[in-house]
Amino acid sequence: MISRSTIDQVYETARVEEVIGDFVTLKKSGSNFKGLSPFSQERTPSFMVSPVKQIWKDFSSGKGGNVVAFLMEHEHFSYPEALRYLAKRYNIEIEETQQTQEEKAKADAKESLYLVNKYAQKSFEENLWELSEGRAIGHSYFKERGFTDETIRFFGLGYALEKKDHFYKQALKEGYEENYLIETGLVIKNEQGAVDRFRGRVLFPIRSMAGRIQGFGGRILSATAKTAKYLNSPESEIYNKSQVLYGIYESKKAIAKADLCYLVEGYTDVIQLFQSGIENVVSSSGTALTPQQIRLIRRLTSNIVVLFDGDAAGLRAALRGIDLILEQGMNVKICSFPEGEDPDSFAKNQTKETLQSYLEESAQDFIEFKTALLLKETAQDPVKKAATVREIVQSIAKIPDPIQQEIYLKQCAATMEISEAVLFNALAQEQTKNNKAVRQIKPASASQQIIQKTPQKEQVKSPLVFLEKQLISILIHYGAHEAAFEELIIRADEHGNLVEESKTIHTKVFEKIFLDLQQDEVEFIQSEYRLLYEQIMQSFQLEGEIKIEKFVQQEDPALGQIITDIVLSDEAHQLHDWEKKNIFVKQRESMVGQLVSETILTFRRHLIDEKIHSLLQEAKEKKTAEGNAEFLDDVMQYQGLKKLLSKKLNRVL
Ligand code: CTP
Ligand code: MN
Repeated sequence: MISRSTIDQVYETARVEEVIGDFVTLKKSGSNFKGLSPFSQERTPSFMVSPVKQIWKDFSSGKGGNVVAFLMEHEHFSYPEALRYLAKRYNIEIEETQQTQEEKAKADAKESLYLVNKYAQKSFEENLWELSEGRAIGHSYFKERGFTDETIRFFGLGYALEKKDHFYKQALKEGYEENYLIETGLVIKNEQGAVDRFRGRVLFPIRSMAGRIQGFGGRILSATAKTAKYLNSPESEIYNKSQVLYGIYESKKAIAKADLCYLVEGYTDVIQLFQSGIENVVSSSGTALTPQQIRLIRRLTSNIVVLFDGDAAGLRAALRGIDLILEQGMNVKICSFPEGEDPDSFAKNQTKETLQSYLEESAQDFIEFKTALLLKETAQDPVKKAATVREIVQSIAKIPDPIQQEIYLKQCAATMEISEAVLFNALAQEQTKNNKAVRQIKPASASQQIIQKTPQKEQVKSPLVFLEKQLISILIHYGAHEAAFEELIIRADEHGNLVEESKTIHTKVFEKIFLDLQQDEVEFIQSEYRLLYEQIMQSFQLEGEIKIEKFVQQEDPALGQIITDIVLSDEAHQLHDWEKKNIFVKQRESMVGQLVSETILTFRRHLIDEKIHSLLQEAKEKKTAEGNAEFLDDVMQYQGLKKLLSKKLNRVL
């Protein structure tokens, strides 16, 4: 792990405007920088960078955050990858923590393996371009396959000479240690001594998401050779074939931009499609698709179209992949090619436009696809039809989102001409089957499920989402301000009657919010906002303030994004109109007290609504008399509280 002090040093040194300036042309605009959004195609700049606050915000896509968030978003780095990138850019030495001697040695070894691969890639590439054997055999092979020089360079393709130990000798001479050459699999040691793994093959370097060379695929050139057509790097500390996707580095930007990933089987399919202008494509390289590979894609998009070869093996591979993709909560379509064609042969000599329209028109969702299969096989056989329906329902059962399940179920009913009721029944059976296997880890009740689901982004439609953001925004902007609040006090008068009285108190905004929320023991329902709330309160209580520059340095990019949104939402006005903004802010300052009261009261009222709702839900499920009484009690109490809050709210409004 990267040590805290290194992380701090990276944040202290890195300048968001410099780092972003490497990718986006920025122009000074007041105290900020402006530029064209790298996340969308636009003509007027809506991308803003604040050097003072060290944050950025893209008003066209809504994205924003600190310098690390930018790299994660733009380069699709993981958090540590982004930190390492910054450390490198600013010449900061990375200090690793919690590493035993053994772990340290392992990390160094891993680094050495990457270095060896990097060197090998360069060397294979040089062979291809600069040696006569390489040009005559390797380069001309790729030319024959229709790859342009530009494509060959872009994918870093290379060639390994026929000679048995050319690479081995060369690498030793350059000072690379033998054991690393062996561990990467580039060199094999046997009775006859050391020999190169790849000989007389063209080579496809396989890069990680961050662009490091993890391994190679090597293709034999003669069609008649007895050895396997493709030879790949063996599994090692840095190459795990179930976790790599060929083309992910080259295509990640296009995938994110198109919000869609085409998945093919082979190296050449990726390259050919890419060259034809379909750049959002990766390959599982002949292995059955794995969950890890799908999760790699999911960092970029949740939409996958599986393109499979027009043969039986291709079909089987596609079918296997579908359920796995559905299980990961992703959307999947399937697109087939005419018998005997694969994406590579099909894409050759086609324009981008014809390809694009073929892909769009032929992509079927998985129900259409499975149905079509059935109709081809056995249109009239009811037993087979039943089996297929069951198979489709099994796929639907894998989808985590119940709404999507329902949509697919209805579609299946229509295409298969089976009643929805029967299908829902079948789905329920599937689900009990699945649930039995995982019962222990399922949440206890439906209401709990609802609450656990809500924090996921975009799913929550309740006003609470807005209110939680509003509260955090108030805390960030006015937390340390003192404001006047009207408090409703209930006391007994001289006749012993209860009377309500309002009293003005002066207190700090954060204290008011803290005490009010504590009163009801309420918690934010969205986990990100809950975390932020805790952090903010802690900072106020310990230091009496929050420092925004420090505060945006969140490890979790989701948190950084929320803060940036809040901090910069006012600055959106800057892009248009200064004066208006000032007026707006002034008005808001004078109304802080009222704004706070209003927000808290509305927030509490909604939370109570939610609480009542979930209690009723639970009561419905349990249905025991004694349980019911207890619930009713609770519900009544909450109703009372709600009434009181409404009353208070009426006063402040
Ligand atoms: N593959 C492999 N080992 C093999 C055969 C195939 O690793 N012996 C992998 C390769 O990643 C290959 C993919 O499976 O790209 C698909 O195999 P195939 O369709 O046979 O190869 P193509 O990519 O079509 O190769 P080419 O067009 O060069 O024949
Ligand atoms: Mn092929």
